[in-house]
Amino acid sequence: AFDARINPSILAADFVNMQAELARIAAADFVHVDVMDNHFVPNLTFGPQMVERIQATSPVPLDVHLMIDDPDRWAPGYAELGAASVTFHLEAAAEPVALARRLRAIGARAGVAVKPATAVEGLFDMLDDFDQILIMTVEPGFGGQSFMPETMPKLRRLRDEAQRRGAQVWLQVDGGIAPSTIAQAAEAGADTFVAGSAVFGADDPEQAIRALRSTVAS
Ligand code: DX5
Ligand code: ZN
Repeated sequence: AFDARINPSILAADFVNMQAELARIAAADFVHVDVMDNHFVPNLTFGPQMVERIQATSPVPLDVHLMIDDPDRWAPGYAELGAASVTFHLEAAAEPVALARRLRAIGARAGVAVKPATAVEGLFDMLDDFDQILIMTVEPGFGGQSFMPETMPKLRRLRDEAQRRGAQVWLQVDGGIAPSTIAQAAEAGADTFVAGSAVFGADDPEQAIRALRSTVAS
């Protein structure tokens, strides 16, 4: 059986009603928490103080996606506050393998993300150091953008290489994931799906999560 993880992104939630918004997605596998710093991406969300409150409030474990410069400095703090997984961008990290090992030592799943234009081949020798890899399916920075199908060959190459090496790594997609796009991402090898507007834009977020999951589950 293929179990698909659905991680709603609270970037699409109402930030001033976060506790109620978190309660609406109790059926999720993880809550995807987008941290942006106005430097790595042209948008700004929140930092560790807010994530600490989300951690204390959420019934679901946190999947933190850091779209920030200098993750070598900042990422361990998110692991220390209890996030289940911490994903930083390959493009921003000085020493990605060393950072992944620090995250694991603190007790978090270690994740690395790549933007649409970044090749995945550079990750092949690091597969054992990561628990999850995030293939961005839009340019990071904003919710509500269109899924980029041209990122799928990269996802396939990564899945094939992970299989060849027997690596137990989760493959995540983020950006434009909806009922109309999730099947092609699953077919290309994704097993973990971030969805912002498709979940929080629905009248019934729990139902939207179940619908996404049943589209790809087998
Ligand atoms: C974009 C963020 C995504 C975003 C996805 O940079 O990393 O997590 O919330 O939003 P949707 O699902 O609306 O494309
Ligand atoms: Zn994200």
